[in-house]
Amino acid sequence: VGKDGKNGGREGKAKRPRKLLTIADWQRAARQRLPRPAYDYFRSGADDELTLERNERAYDDWVIWYRVLRDVSAPRLATTVLGQEIQSPILIAPTAYHRMAHPDGELGTARAAAARGTILVASTLATTSLEEIAEATRAPKWFQLYVHKDRGFTKSLVERAEAAGYDAIVVTVDTPVLGRRLRDERGGFGLPEGLRMENLVAALAEGPPDGSTLSHYVADRHDASLTFADLAWLRELSHMPVVVKGVVRADDAAACVSAGVAGIIVSNHGGRQLDGAPATIDAVSGVVDAVGGRADVLVDGGIRRGTDVLKALALGARAVLVGRPVLWGLAVGGEAGVVAVLELLDKELARAMALAGCASVAELDRGLVARSRAR
Ligand SMILES: Cc1cc2nc3c(=O)[nH]c(=O)nc-3n(C[C@H](O)[C@H](O)[C@H](O)COP(=O)(O)O)c2cc1C
Repeated sequence: VGKDGKNGGREGKAKRPRKLLTIADWQRAARQRLPRPAYDYFRSGADDELTLERNERAYDDWVIWYRVLRDVSAPRLATTVLGQEIQSPILIAPTAYHRMAHPDGELGTARAAAARGTILVASTLATTSLEEIAEATRAPKWFQLYVHKDRGFTKSLVERAEAAGYDAIVVTVDTPVLGRRLRDERGGFGLPEGLRMENLVAALAEGPPDGSTLSHYVADRHDASLTFADLAWLRELSHMPVVVKGVVRADDAAACVSAGVAGIIVSNHGGRQLDGAPATIDAVSGVVDAVGGRADVLVDGGIRRGTDVLKALALGARAVLVGRPVLWGLAVGGEAGVVAVLELLDKELARAMALAGCASVAELDRGLVARSRAR
């Protein structure tokens, strides 16, 4: 079975795995439970899905030159990000519409993040309001922002996030226009009845016009004129540190740091935006070098194994985020499913670290990984 679960039996006929031992197992189980349009929305990438595939596959090109005879009797996953202590370097990436996966929705993911001592990045496109999510947990949490053409509305989102107690603003910059997701277009994807984008209720009152998909309708409101200069504007809207999400280039990362951001998330939106973009793991070291310690660098996209996390941290990422694996956990088991998925990845990471001779995440350095073809 491939690690994306693709070879695991026919659609609809696959037997439920007796034990969910890998993220691929969780994906198969989620596929069996979710209505087809919801599963397709969660799993799909843009156009030919080249970047979606590449994100995962690129991890296989890196090998781990493990160390031996170190004391690894108690591997420690704890670290800090933006100065905040977390128990695991695996954060929850912002993804839309959690209540489409399970009635627990964003409240389930928020509580699961708290239970695992990590951070939820709540999406602008949540099906639960950012205030309700904040009330569900006292753990650190970040708010992901899409900058809308209506800057007054954008400002109000930031102010609401600060008032609700969020610890950072994550501005997504890889979505000036929406990537084309053919499965959603073919299936006429829309939100199931009863679910709304609760943060946007005021802005979306009139709903999508005929012939416009929901996603395009939403993205049409995003401000495609956004530039580096706007990062200064964003920083001044609140006291929260600003993290930029969706960077793959070293020069862009350097420009973001010059604009005073506290963090960079190396991301291509899980292959849902520009098809043909590089795998994010291949972009990490260039960004880390350009940033030179002036901001925290995180990465997401295609992380399905503890060894993937190990490779990302070894290449210089401070932490990683996972998107789809969390949605599979949520779809299968609600809040408990998300806890189980995060625990699975933590355990895989702890085992990988022990086998690689590293007792703490601080010991994961570039000397530990190399491109397989280079040797
Ligand atoms: C179903 C889905 C919805 C997403 N929604 C958002 C979103 O609202 N805002 C955002 O910044 N990124 C969004 N993303 C991108 C994720 O934050 C993240 O970059 C990506 O999922 C990481 O790749 P992975 O799913 O392979 O872990 C979404 C991704 C998926 C799969």
